[in-house]
Amino acid sequence: MRGGNTAEPGQTLNWSILLRLWPYLHDHRRRIALALVCLLLAKGAVLIIPFIMKHLVDGMNLQAGAQLAGLLALGLVLAYGLARFSSVLFGELRDTLFGRVTERAMRKLGLKVFRHVHALDLDFHLQRRTGGLARDIERGTSGVSFLLRFMVFNIVPTLFEIAAVVSVFLIAYGASYALVTLASVLAYGWFSFGATEWRTRFVREMNEADSASNTRAVDSLLNFETVKYFGNEDFEAHRYDEDLQRWEMARRKNRLSLFGLNGGQALIIAVAQTSMIGLAVYQVRAGILTLGDFILISQYMIQLFMPLGFLGFVYREMKGAMANIEKLFALLDVRPQVTEREAAAELIVEDAAIRFDNVSFAYQAQRPILQGVSFTVLPGQKVAVVGASGAGKSTLVKLLFRFYDPTAGSIAIDGQDIAGVTLQSLRRAVGIVPQDTVLFNDTLLENVRYGKPGAADSEVTEAIRMAHLEEFLAQLPEGGETRVGERGLKLSGGEKQRVSIARTVLKRPPILVFDEATSSLDSRSEQSILSALREIARHHTSLVIAHRLSTVVDADRILVLHHGRIVEQGAHRELLALDGHYAALWRAQQDEQARGPDQ
Ligand SMILES: Nc1ncnc2c1ncn2[C@@H]1O[C@H](COP(=O)(O)OP(=O)(O)O)[C@@H](O)[C@H]1O
Ligand SMILES: [Mg+2]
Repeated sequence: MRGGNTAEPGQTLNWSILLRLWPYLHDHRRRIALALVCLLLAKGAVLIIPFIMKHLVDGMNLQAGAQLAGLLALGLVLAYGLARFSSVLFGELRDTLFGRVTERAMRKLGLKVFRHVHALDLDFHLQRRTGGLARDIERGTSGVSFLLRFMVFNIVPTLFEIAAVVSVFLIAYGASYALVTLASVLAYGWFSFGATEWRTRFVREMNEADSASNTRAVDSLLNFETVKYFGNEDFEAHRYDEDLQRWEMARRKNRLSLFGLNGGQALIIAVAQTSMIGLAVYQVRAGILTLGDFILISQYMIQLFMPLGFLGFVYREMKGAMANIEKLFALLDVRPQVTEREAAAELIVEDAAIRFDNVSFAYQAQRPILQGVSFTVLPGQKVAVVGASGAGKSTLVKLLFRFYDPTAGSIAIDGQDIAGVTLQSLRRAVGIVPQDTVLFNDTLLENVRYGKPGAADSEVTEAIRMAHLEEFLAQLPEGGETRVGERGLKLSGGEKQRVSIARTVLKRPPILVFDEATSSLDSRSEQSILSALREIARHHTSLVIAHRLSTVVDADRILVLHHGRIVEQGAHRELLALDGHYAALWRAQQDEQARGPDQ
């Protein structure tokens, strides 16, 4: 059974996880030690109780001839109360002390994963399943909480208690009770371990079904509009129900196997308890033990087997928690492909000249996207890139922003290779108005302010004015406080583009990149924004990717990208004179415009 899925994480308890968790606990070493002391005190109090009971009972037992003095009896009763109270008090103290430790570990790990996931490649995010990822992270961090709590509150104390009880039996009552206890604990452990291993498959199936149905639900809801456009609600519901059905089946198998596990454990405990009680009854009748001894033995037995019954559950859950944590650590082990060099310097921008030198790039090795692209943008120049959809224009931008590294060639800003500078300094220097803008589910104003968190209101207002958003804001009942909906779905494409422009204007980086930034605007708004952009770009180096050629006739230079190669470059007039790709594109678009309003 195990051969088939040895690669599965969590086949056996992976204790090395605890080593990896240690850095997250390190801050609270003293607290942990204190919690452990409380744990020992609480357990000690619990272990004393059966002894007090024994002496109380023996004292009352007239036949045994040991009449207990009133004062001593009172003392024992008080001791009993004190022990009971201490066991609860120290238990509570331990919980309170340790709570902080767990929460801090969860916070640190959660933040680390968050930062890490943000540092991963664009590719990772294009391939991820948001619902599943969120679920994995959540399961991993709550796994940490579970693992720590039960390590400290359950596994360690139970082991301690078993050792203590076995020693008491051995010292006070001879080998037989100790042997029965030890044998039943071992049998119990062996059975629980085996049965839990067997069940892992069902637990895993259940988790997978859970993730799958969650991913499906999130994806389906994100595509809400598409579902409606195609009237596919039933289709979606059907697919979701298929996942739910798998989940239901997996739960069922899981429950049945749990029944087997719990039943077996109960049987072992019952056999052990029966034989010990039987032995004790026999010895009391034979006069070997007093009634007090009988009470003591039966008390210890109950005390011992109760947490032991729980131990099976804990072991099972701990395995699950460890598997979840392992998954989270595996996520942390994913290395981004775009990384900073060891001694990355800050990018120092003086004139903001950009140089692409023989750059080639492919998303997948078999399909080259850019091939030997070379060009320079001189300081303060505006260079335009035009070409058919899919030519690789946006890819140029992604390379400049270092979302990916070129497979050959290099890109430099002011003579510094962007592969050798810190990502932070590079990305601070470059402002991008992307082709598709996605907004945060926040107010319009906050979305603009995102370009420069903490910007003064006057700066934000100015950016809004330059992006020609004012008029639109004035129409809204709630103005800038209007919430834009998830991913900005409540705004039109053109409105989103203007928010995106305002953001970038606010950021005011030395290099500006517009990736078809006005493609969703009608010609009139486009013209007014373009004049604003011209104003903004005057003292900046800018790279403008354009769909409509009429928007870039004023560029210092136009690059024509065709199947990933620059096939022509020059100013508008030169390119027209050349009568090649550009001239053909130009004529086609002029005709289109003559035929009617664009698009
Ligand atoms: N992450 C990706 N993985 C694989 N292929 C991609 C990826 N992004 C873009 N492509 C492909 O690369 C080509 C160029 O894309 P892009 O640079 O966006 O073109 P455009 O010139 O229209 O902006 C397209 O054919 C596109 O399908
Ligand atoms: Mg594009």
